[in-house]
Amino acid sequence: MYSSYDPRMDTRQRIVDLVASNPGQMTCLEYITIAEELEARGPCSLLVFGLGKDTPLWSDLNQNGKTIFLEGDARWIAKMRTAAIDVHWVEYTTKLEQAEELKKREGIPMLLPSQVRQRVWDVILVDAPPGEAPGRPGRFQSIYEASRLAAPDACVFVHDIDRPVEKWFSTRFLGKPIETVHRLGVFGTRAKQPRR
Ligand SMILES: C[S@@+](CC[C@H](N)C(=O)[O-])C[C@H]1O[C@@H](n2cnc3c(N)ncnc32)[C@H](O)[C@@H]1O
Repeated sequence: MYSSYDPRMDTRQRIVDLVASNPGQMTCLEYITIAEELEARGPCSLLVFGLGKDTPLWSDLNQNGKTIFLEGDARWIAKMRTAAIDVHWVEYTTKLEQAEELKKREGIPMLLPSQVRQRVWDVILVDAPPGEAPGRPGRFQSIYEASRLAAPDACVFVHDIDRPVEKWFSTRFLGKPIETVHRLGVFGTRAKQPRR
């Protein structure tokens, strides 16, 4: 289990440490982009598709707001769950190789806990399911549901936007990105001014 960091630790230093201990995931600038949006909004409603070593960071940055994590892999739930982490298991029912067929659909819904449907979300991070190989779920459903759950002025982040599925389905359901930071697509409205 990964414990929460010392809350007095500077967020930037914490992100540098996270990247060093979490190879193959987001870059410093990607994590900082999301962290700055959370800091600019203050306590907000934050929905995160996917657990990882970054989970305590998002939970702590939004500690006076409402944060829910959705995870499809029970092993990651067992690894990351603490009293402070509100995580729900979800099932992704589509596979990566269905991309062409799914492009013809109006929507690609999934079953979500009532706590998630009951509110609109100010910030949504789509970083799951992994979506890296055929036979495994793609991010079709998480991207589609993000588009339905987002508040009118929400900011939606989609990671791995360089991959064809994430790029095509994000554009289809979330529109044109307002910004792309490395492999992080930013959609909707930013409270924090984008970098130039
Ligand atoms: C891209 S990973 C999410 C990584 C997380 N956002 C982070 O930055 O640490 C997507 C899914 O893979 C699993 N996962 C999480 N962290 C992982 C890691 N370091 N390596 C491999 N799989 C991971 C979880 O099931 C998660 O929902």
